[in-house]
Amino acid sequence: MAEPETPAPARRGIGRRGFLGYAGSAVAGAAAGAAGGAAWGGTAEDPAPARVGLGAEVTPYGAHQAGVTAPTPTVVEVVALDLLETVDRDALGRLFRVWTGDIEALATGRPTPGDTEPWLAAARADVTVTVGLGPGALAAARVDPPVGFEQVPPMRHDRLEDRWSGGDLVLVVGARDGTTVAHAVRQLVRDAAPFARQRWRQAGFWNGVDADGRRVTGRNLFGQVDGTANPVPGTDAFDQAVWVVGPPWAGGTTLVVRRIAMDLDTWATLTRDKQEQAVGRRLDDGERLAEPRPDAHARLALPMENAGARIFRKGVSYANAEDSGLVFMSYQASVAGQFVPIQRSLDRADALNTWTTAIGSAVFAVLPGFERGDWLGSGILG
Ligand code: HEM
Repeated sequence: MAEPETPAPARRGIGRRGFLGYAGSAVAGAAAGAAGGAAWGGTAEDPAPARVGLGAEVTPYGAHQAGVTAPTPTVVEVVALDLLETVDRDALGRLFRVWTGDIEALATGRPTPGDTEPWLAAARADVTVTVGLGPGALAAARVDPPVGFEQVPPMRHDRLEDRWSGGDLVLVVGARDGTTVAHAVRQLVRDAAPFARQRWRQAGFWNGVDADGRRVTGRNLFGQVDGTANPVPGTDAFDQAVWVVGPPWAGGTTLVVRRIAMDLDTWATLTRDKQEQAVGRRLDDGERLAEPRPDAHARLALPMENAGARIFRKGVSYANAEDSGLVFMSYQASVAGQFVPIQRSLDRADALNTWTTAIGSAVFAVLPGFERGDWLGSGILG
């Protein structure tokens, strides 16, 4: 479809280039036409917002896996796999060499070896693939986990289901669109077939970009600005909270995945004041309330309430016929030292517990990054 023939009055003055720069595609232009052009409020003086809808290539190389610090992708799939019984340390090393090649290809928009749908390899799609080992893979490879690596202990409010819990390996695959993510997952899971079978797969989405294409802290399905108090990548606070120190895991981290169902229907019956009190933050801008109640979520989760513990939260929302919620994910150097104390405080008293229920739980040791010519996990399995 082409863009509308007659420019709508609201966008008169924007040159063709500016218009296309903003819309990014003829499809978007057609959509604007269908809406009568009412949404086009720009003037000739407006600076053209940069690269709306376009992604980038995220280098897969470095001391850390790129997906940990990259902004939360628009579309994410988290896939847990179980190892076949015969898989030992050497076999795991072979799998990771294969995955390394796949990740290098996917990150640069090239088809992976043996890709039967190479047309789906998308360039500049913000593809990241983060790989971690669960307790079963660490045992199979006879590898000591990072210090403080443990299962999240049972919590009073948990209603865990097997179908969303556990796993020997994890892939967190993110990109700017669902086709690219689904295709990448398919390649990675197919290449793992001689070694591992898919156990569960959770799809999520996040809107971390505003109407002008600027990065913003996104909102969860309760409507809350979620992620404000996160440590910022590149700072000392982030490095201390997230990266494991000391070989062989130096540069790695740990990942906790919790599938948390959110009762959107009962939440929606609360007044705005009650909603803000439950989390201790304002709904419009996510600012802290001056006087939060003692059991407000964001108050109980504060480092000062948890012996200084900080985590880097990077969840994505999910919504389907059964329920809606958050595929909560957090990265931290130590599960026992950081995640568990915060989770215990929240389980004890969090006001949000009325509307949130963990229905899945899994922990993974996330491998350090790799350099060109090297392979993911070489320092641990090599
Ligand atoms: C569906 C479940 C959850 C929802 C809807 C939720 C929502 C929020 C919101 C809106 C904030 C305030 C804004 C921000 O700083 O991001 C927040 C903060 C926070 N949440 Fe959650 N959260 C959930 C689960 C969890 C879990 C399971 C944990 C960890 C065990 C957690 C740990 C934290 C931490 C550490 C903060 C920052 C506290 C601070 O330093 O100010 N949250 N959460």
